Amino acid sequence: MTLRKIVQPQQTARILGIETSCDETAASVIENGRAILSSVVATQIEIHKKYGGVFPEVASRQHIRTIYAVIEQALQQAHLGIGDIDAIAVTRGPGLAGSLVVGMNAAKGLALGHDIPLIGVNHLEGHIYSAWVYPADTIEPPPEPQFPLLALLVSGGHTELNLMHDHLQYKRLGATLDDAAGEAFDKVARMLDLSYPGGPSIQSAADEGDPTAFNFPRSRLDGTWDFSFSGLKTAVLRVVRKLEDSHRPIPVANLAASFQAAVVDVLFSKTMKAAKEFDVKELVVAGGVSANRVLRDAFLKQTDFPIHIPPLSLCTDNGAMIGAAGYYHFAFGHRDPLNLDVLPTWPLS
Ligand code: KG4
Ligand code: ZN
Repeated sequence: MTLRKIVQPQQTARILGIETSCDETAASVIENGRAILSSVVATQIEIHKKYGGVFPEVASRQHIRTIYAVIEQALQQAHLGIGDIDAIAVTRGPGLAGSLVVGMNAAKGLALGHDIPLIGVNHLEGHIYSAWVYPADTIEPPPEPQFPLLALLVSGGHTELNLMHDHLQYKRLGATLDDAAGEAFDKVARMLDLSYPGGPSIQSAADEGDPTAFNFPRSRLDGTWDFSFSGLKTAVLRVVRKLEDSHRPIPVANLAASFQAAVVDVLFSKTMKAAKEFDVKELVVAGGVSANRVLRDAFLKQTDFPIHIPPLSLCTDNGAMIGAAGYYHFAFGHRDPLNLDVLPTWPLS
């Protein structure tokens, strides 16, 4: 079944994307899978900062407070009413159950009340589809990612390499065996007394540091396409403990820079190796950690391999990526029933 058979080129489909899997309440209107008519994100970062991480119950209650305002704003910014929406795509999982339920129920309420199709979208798939979208007023839209492609997904909860031969088809080559890359950033930030979320804090501390100051281990797990970051995290902890025990100052910037360099080194080298091995045409790098400047520089400057990395605002959680993935489901004729349940753990392939 090809996409062209389902959606005629002259047809316009507008999808409302809703995302509440973690600590961002987000909604967006996407036209034909790529053009962002609006994208609204209400972040809870300031609320969770004092806990040093996401407090699940607080997150879901905050989603309840903001979800309808966020959706309303997304429609307003798109200059559309709910009646102009062809389908509602909502994150079904993976994520925090209590948070997912809020977005799911908001989507169901709108779908039922306005007789609009409902489509549950995998959050990880959403991250991959963030590589497809661009602001609707872009004069020259960026080229569409071409298959077969390799997608490196690096977020707070996941780190995996997926091979895609067509839309919505994922073959997971490998994944982290322990911590996700973003989780390692968050945990190491805590060790270094840097604020949540750890990724941006480590990155700015690292700007002042020497990435070669500490030669941290790189788990290459050769012979597999898997990753592992817990050994690296423990190596940082060991250095911190040793310095603390001997009452010496902690060289935060050097530790942050050396840790960041080790993570980027492994992600970059393994992804490039897989890209060659599986002979893909293009690469997609997506998820919160793809906002990391050193990682972006590696993929954008150290290789001329065709690569799609979303702009910073679309690396972390947003509704546009859910609307984009939702569009392709819509185009292939997928529809979900109104008793659709959330899936807090839901592998992509
Ligand atoms: O994709 P995302 O917003 O949420 C999940 O689906 O998990 O990713 C959040 C993760 C957090 O672990 C955060 O520390 C990390 O992305 N992150 C970064 C950067 N910005 C966000 N990691 C490294 N460098 C960054 N600049
Ligand atoms: Zn995410």
